Amino acid sequence: MNLKIQTLSGYFHEYQKSVLEPEKFWGRIAETFHWKKKWDNVVDWNFEEPSVKWFVNGKMNITENMLDRHLFTSADKTAILWEPNDPNEAHRTITYQELYDLVCQFSNTLKAQGVEKGDRVIIYMPMVPEAAIAMMACARIGAVHSVVFAGFSSTALADRINDCQAKMVITSDGNFRGAKKIPVKSVVDEALENTTSVEKVITLKRTGEEVTMKEGRDLWWHEAIQGNEGPCPAEAMDSEDMLFILYTSGSTGKPKGVVHTCGGYMVYTHFTFTNVFQYQADDIFWCSADVGWITGHSYIVYGPLLAGASMVMFEGVPTYPGPDRFWQVIDKYKVNQFYTAPTAIRALQAFGQEPLEGYSLSSLKVLGTVGEPINEEAWHWYHAFVGKGKCPIVDTWWQTETGGIMISPIAGITPTKPSYATLPLPGIQLTILDDQGNELKGNSVEGNLCVKFPWPSMLRTTYGDHDRCKQVYFSMFKGYYFTGDGVKRDEDGYYRILGRVDDVINVSGHRMGTAEVENAINEHPKVVESAVVGYDHEIKGQGIYAYVIADTTDRTEENLIKEIKLTVSNIIGPIARPDKIQIVTGLPKTRSGKIMRRILRKIANGEVSNFGDTSTLLDPSVVDQIIEGALQKA
Ligand code: WT7
Repeated sequence: MNLKIQTLSGYFHEYQKSVLEPEKFWGRIAETFHWKKKWDNVVDWNFEEPSVKWFVNGKMNITENMLDRHLFTSADKTAILWEPNDPNEAHRTITYQELYDLVCQFSNTLKAQGVEKGDRVIIYMPMVPEAAIAMMACARIGAVHSVVFAGFSSTALADRINDCQAKMVITSDGNFRGAKKIPVKSVVDEALENTTSVEKVITLKRTGEEVTMKEGRDLWWHEAIQGNEGPCPAEAMDSEDMLFILYTSGSTGKPKGVVHTCGGYMVYTHFTFTNVFQYQADDIFWCSADVGWITGHSYIVYGPLLAGASMVMFEGVPTYPGPDRFWQVIDKYKVNQFYTAPTAIRALQAFGQEPLEGYSLSSLKVLGTVGEPINEEAWHWYHAFVGKGKCPIVDTWWQTETGGIMISPIAGITPTKPSYATLPLPGIQLTILDDQGNELKGNSVEGNLCVKFPWPSMLRTTYGDHDRCKQVYFSMFKGYYFTGDGVKRDEDGYYRILGRVDDVINVSGHRMGTAEVENAINEHPKVVESAVVGYDHEIKGQGIYAYVIADTTDRTEENLIKEIKLTVSNIIGPIARPDKIQIVTGLPKTRSGKIMRRILRKIANGEVSNFGDTSTLLDPSVVDQIIEGALQKA
């Protein structure tokens, strides 16, 4: 059995041990997994290069720990309860034995199509069991998966394929998303016009729409798997072999491929899943994220299946066919732990209590949130009306780069405070630094959130560009991992995340680099220059506000704005489409040419004064013009 914290003093005790003797702490937890060969050292590290290795020279396969080892005890236990987009379509129940068979069959299929250990495979799919099966099949044969959220455009997909030189793409004909049917294979076809590495495309039939299949390159999933039944031996992976790449946005224009490796990720996702949610053997767990994001990787696929859990996988959206869909699904499967994003809570809260009527939600024991700060109002609504006042809320702070939850209450054990992620999990040595890099000791302090000791599931590099990893995460403060978040430690030592301190905005729990959105806007032929900032948005947490200098001589401003929004959708995807665009004649720049974003952020939030020191502005009158334009729009 993996370590399970059961009391508050137990938490403090384990935390203490994890800091004093990290090797012993993690070594003991790692021993509860199946290893083909035991490690030599628990951890070797330095944050200068950086170089981080966990369970050094250990050999294992994560899928043996997710599938094979459960077959002895719980082959007939439900692994996946799949709820389709349309509630009238039959749901699917997949047992551990069936999942094992399906993963082996698809692993054999990948091999038959020439995929080898170390090859990169892009997964661009809807929320269907086959997405998880494809991920595990890659892991089983040692191929590196990179899941791309199916809402990304063909350009964004092509960029990712090119960056990791993927050999294969696994996709579907189309996706069901609420009332919409979205063509997917055609997006892949478009992306592949600008790539050269992909040899094979496997397409799952989902919506039945017409697709073009390219001879020699494209195969149907149901045809490709024929004859590939039977076991597939799990490749012996080194702890530090790559498990997956997941692209995420940063402050520069280009998304980076965050690399996670096999051993440490396995140990940490399992540990955090069972402890944070206090998962018990017969519970039904539901994380409503998409597998295209890290939350889906760690808490739909890897964490729950490592723990031998039964989990719900949902294809649809919270508001289809009605705003009661989440509550319907919770009652239908008697969900015990429910994990979602603040943006979804706020969106559902906006419908009032009526959609909750008629649902008991009595199976719920734990509620979780992730992705962005949760405001107090949403926290109380979630607690009172979804949890009926009896379910602890775990506000979990973490990142694509951290691989697993870092700061969170242990459900039912750590006393909670609305909008506080509370305390670090065992093994997580946080520190708060001021802008000069001094550690701020004690309580009631505020600054930059950093980590000073490695944890098993931390990123190892950014794919193909280790220097970038060093620059972005390990150079701002020497000897520390810098998260990019601002944080407050209150008088009780509790942590409250204040949001990003870099040029990254968080829209509905999705990370967006302002430079990335600006680059997309600038692709419009009439655009001269743009500056993007986040502003407070009631549902999304942050909305995207773009200030654009453009030539409007031959079209109306209204049409130009529409075109720019479309341009961004086409280049990145609808999630990056600006909520507001203001056409301006100039941007507030310093004499050295830097845009003063702080001013633009204030204006986007409706503030028209208190801009602080503006003496370095080249032309202060630009600010007045922008304010005037913003007021006209409001
Ligand atoms: C950024 C990471 C971790 C999975 C989803 C997002 C913000 C995340 C919280 C939280 C306040 C949060 C941070 C972080 N964030 N969780 N509970 N409270 N902020 O992963 O896309 O890598 O984004 O999301 O700003 O840095 P991601």
